[in-house]
Amino acid sequence: MIKKTLNKKENNMKILVLNGPNLNLLGTREPEIYGTTTLESIENEILEYSKSFHNVEIAFFQSNHEGEIVDKIQEAKSLYDGILINPAAYTHTSVAIADAIKAVNLPAVEIHLSNINTREDFRKKSLTAPSCIGQISGFGKTSYLAGLFCLIKHLEK
Ligand code: DQA
Repeated sequence: MIKKTLNKKENNMKILVLNGPNLNLLGTREPEIYGTTTLESIENEILEYSKSFHNVEIAFFQSNHEGEIVDKIQEAKSLYDGILINPAAYTHTSVAIADAIKAVNLPAVEIHLSNINTREDFRKKSLTAPSCIGQISGFGKTSYLAGLFCLIKHLEK
């Protein structure tokens, strides 16, 4: 295949995929809501999908601890071009994560496996989404791939 010469910098685009609390239990956690796919296999699908784009590098991080997620977002400032984040339950409670995303000024896309707008009232409010460039919710593991696509397209602009 002929390699196209792009005007854009040839550096790899680096994206951090962040997952919040209890997402390490995907596969067995409330499968009727979150599906039966494990986080590891979602991460593998993300990696596979990322290969269809030019020079995209992906790193993954999952934590059940709010402070660790804040630390990772702060670190991301110098290491990554954008963040794909499923803050899980912290979506609805964490001013600290919302502030961290704003503070680092990196484009972030918020994603959810379930459609948070059709569930309990407390899930309908996202404290973190206003710090993000957009939110995708309700497509199961495809939310991650759709979010990655949108983030890459945003970064390519
Ligand atoms: C979730 C939705 C949240 O309300 C919930 O607390 C999660 C997962 C989702 O991906 O659908 O842990 O973020």
